[in-house]
Amino acid sequence: MPLDFKDKVVIVTGAGSGLGKVYALDFAARGAKVVVNDLGGSLKGDGASSKNADIVVAEIKAAGGQAVANYDNVLDGANIVKTAVEAFGTVHVIINNAGILRDSAFKNMPEKDFKLVLDVHLNGAYKVTKAAWPYFRDQKYGRIVNTASPAGLYGNFGQANYATAKLALVGFAETLAKEGAKYNIRANVIAPLAKSRMTEDLLPPDVLEKILPEKVSPLVQYLAHADNQTSGAIFEVAGGFFGQVKWQRSSGQIFRGDEETFTPEAILNQFDSIMDFGEKPFNVKTSYPTQVSDYLSILEESKKVTKPNPQGNTK
Ligand code: NAI
Repeated sequence: MPLDFKDKVVIVTGAGSGLGKVYALDFAARGAKVVVNDLGGSLKGDGASSKNADIVVAEIKAAGGQAVANYDNVLDGANIVKTAVEAFGTVHVIINNAGILRDSAFKNMPEKDFKLVLDVHLNGAYKVTKAAWPYFRDQKYGRIVNTASPAGLYGNFGQANYATAKLALVGFAETLAKEGAKYNIRANVIAPLAKSRMTEDLLPPDVLEKILPEKVSPLVQYLAHADNQTSGAIFEVAGGFFGQVKWQRSSGQIFRGDEETFTPEAILNQFDSIMDFGEKPFNVKTSYPTQVSDYLSILEESKKVTKPNPQGNTK
């Protein structure tokens, strides 16, 4: 069965170019009523223009789809949601996609560049989502896709601002997934790589042609669809690769004994073991309560061993 978005209202932020443009076209082609939001500024976030959003809306309409343009900054998220409600009555899906870059080594990064990048990516996503949240709860339906980045998951030279914002979007989605669960609200995160003005000066042309935004869009559409029940997950997606990313933690090392064993020296002695994922099974974490109960059972288990060794551990 084709996955369609008939009767669904989808907001795509930053939909005037790159990934967002392809998402908007694809959602509309599958029957969604699309709010094409784009501020239309430069890659660094300077300026504004209605041109790109208008072009996308015109393309959607020419293909027989339904769309309305919105030129607000994502920081004015309430206006974007208002556009959806005035044009189509409500909102069912938010794709938090708008973004800018202000790269520089942390040593040289001005505070305004740090703050602006956090504002657009993180606070912008917050503003749009906050305005849509009451609609999602009332109608017991909502789908959110936040756009993180490998830079956020793993760090990247010159992107302290961007990486900070992108990882924050992960925590944001993971929490919305939990708070929204009983209202049929699903929130997930993608960390894409795709050809756009963000990457066109970084990667060679032959690589860029292999990572077109069209190869990211199917996952975004699936995560935004009613059939998707997965929530709070992170996906890497690029050039036809789709994979889930999970947090993992080593089995760790338990320290029990008298006070003297709780020392930095005891940590030093056991540090390799604390860090070791190799020979031991690792634990995948999916929720904070799971993590807490995991700690408690590890500690309970360790009580069975009464005699600590000289390093203070019980293994
Ligand atoms: P892009 O620059 O083509 O698209 C971003 C769009 O967001 C632009 O059309 C821009 O006008 C709009 N925008 C910027 N600030 C805005 C604001 N304050 N309010 C409303 N719209 C605003 O870049 P691309 O690559 O399509 O980026 C889309 C998202 O994917 C971004 O969040 C980016 O960080 C993320 N991403 C992209 C990767 C890639 O390889 N292209 C890698 C990882 C993440």
